[in-house]
Amino acid sequence: MFKVGIITASDKGSTGEREDLSGKAIKEIVESKGYKVKKATILPDDEELLLKEMIYMADEQKVDLILTTGGTGFSKRDVTPEATIKACDRMANGIAEAIRYYSLSITPRAMLSRAVSGIRGETLIINLPGSPKAVKESLEYIMDSLHHGLEILTGRASECSR
Ligand code: MTE
Repeated sequence: MFKVGIITASDKGSTGEREDLSGKAIKEIVESKGYKVKKATILPDDEELLLKEMIYMADEQKVDLILTTGGTGFSKRDVTPEATIKACDRMANGIAEAIRYYSLSITPRAMLSRAVSGIRGETLIINLPGSPKAVKESLEYIMDSLHHGLEILTGRASECSR
């Protein structure tokens, strides 16, 4: 089954000032789909640290999927998309677009997420917003198509049947 890395980008989470409910929500959802969480970590909103962790999870731990939460907004410290763009060799914009499209039907504030998605080698990296609510809303919409994308990326499916 697919291996997952979870990165929570949060200054307050990384110092223990705030409980990481979003990382927990991601873990619960992916595990309910039968995916295995290889590593879950909380980092401050620091581009270098986030990039280093994405590279480590993709290249050393060889996870199939990295889900990040937080750091996609307009605050000066929000740099998760910038780290993700640097980590990826091919962008997969459709996933971030789909999340925003669906999320806009729930709240107009979805337009404030600068989240991106892309591929590093054989690892798909997807940014999710920082709240547990937004994480659940985003994942519920993309999970089925995401599964198919991972099958193609990892060579377990060669073509689209529909
Ligand atoms: N997407 C969904 N599905 N649900 C939400 O509640 N909140 C938005 C947006 N995307 C939201 C959402 C808000 S208020 C912000 S500021 C941005 O995500 C950025 O969130 P982040 O800085 O925590 O990543």
